[in-house]
Amino acid sequence: MNGIEKSVNPLFVSAPAKINLHLEVLGLRSDGFHELAMVMQSVDLEDQIKMMGNRDGLITLRCDNPELSTASDNLIIRSAYLLRDKAGLNELGAEINLKKSIPIGAGLAGGSSDAAATLVGLNQLWGLDLPIEELEVLAAELGSDVPFCLEGGTQLCFGRGEVLEKKPRSNSSLAILLVKNPSVSVSTPWAYSRFKEMEFGRYLTEEVEFEERRKLLRNQGWLNPFGGNQLPPLKNDLQEVVTETTPSVKEALGLLRCMPENLGVAMSGSGPSCFALFSDLTKAKSVYFQNRQRFKDAGLMSWCCSLRAEGVKIERD
Ligand code: C5P
Repeated sequence: MNGIEKSVNPLFVSAPAKINLHLEVLGLRSDGFHELAMVMQSVDLEDQIKMMGNRDGLITLRCDNPELSTASDNLIIRSAYLLRDKAGLNELGAEINLKKSIPIGAGLAGGSSDAAATLVGLNQLWGLDLPIEELEVLAAELGSDVPFCLEGGTQLCFGRGEVLEKKPRSNSSLAILLVKNPSVSVSTPWAYSRFKEMEFGRYLTEEVEFEERRKLLRNQGWLNPFGGNQLPPLKNDLQEVVTETTPSVKEALGLLRCMPENLGVAMSGSGPSCFALFSDLTKAKSVYFQNRQRFKDAGLMSWCCSLRAEGVKIERD
């Protein structure tokens, strides 16, 4: 466990955003979380994290976005402490710098991906060599979306989001046009509790019913390479509760649906980000450039990016 001695150079880790191609709320679990059936997909919009190890036991975080707390409530700091506790080596420390590009509170798992990147990066920087299975257990303690973010790509996610069925790695040409109103964010606990108020009577309750839905999702073909196949329809059960109270999400979805040649439009996670899917990045960009004034007039920030076949990645060390 002396890898840190060799690591005088910084480590750079990229942390990509995710979108939900399918988010279905099946029922309520005994732990208070919702039982979900999802298809999560990494996209090429990423935060970048630089890490330097030390043996002073100090873990610090700096971020170029002043809106983000860099204190002990930040998921990066929580991930670093969790990993260090697991190693039982209190002398391990790290100076972490976060370059934030994924919008905050957007339903794009930016914080979760940063947490996953911290686990992967410090595991290497501190020379711990924990296998991915152990990192997944720690990731699930940090948040429901964090395990997905470790390996990313396209995955079916069940349970509260942490039970993963991974897709064989394949490169899809699909791309998205992603939009978000910079002055709007949605609280995930609020979205689920509102959903519960509206839908509770219709929740499934039996494991066999959950399994039926999982089977349906497995058979929809999300795990086959996308190329040439008819895409299953996009779905997000939280979309209705969010659009009800957040007019800019309704407007964003309406605008995206007007975009020519889109293959589907949906909100991501608990919002407020929304996206339209296109056959490739060139198409997504050309549609965007022809319509950018409309997005601007609607007060939306926008990005065009490809789907990505992997999750967090050590870029250089
Ligand atoms: O796990 P995570 O911290 O992302 O969850 C945030 C909140 O979202 C939870 O506290 C819960 O209110 C809600 N949630 C849920 N069911 C899930 C995932 C999240 O009810 N499967």
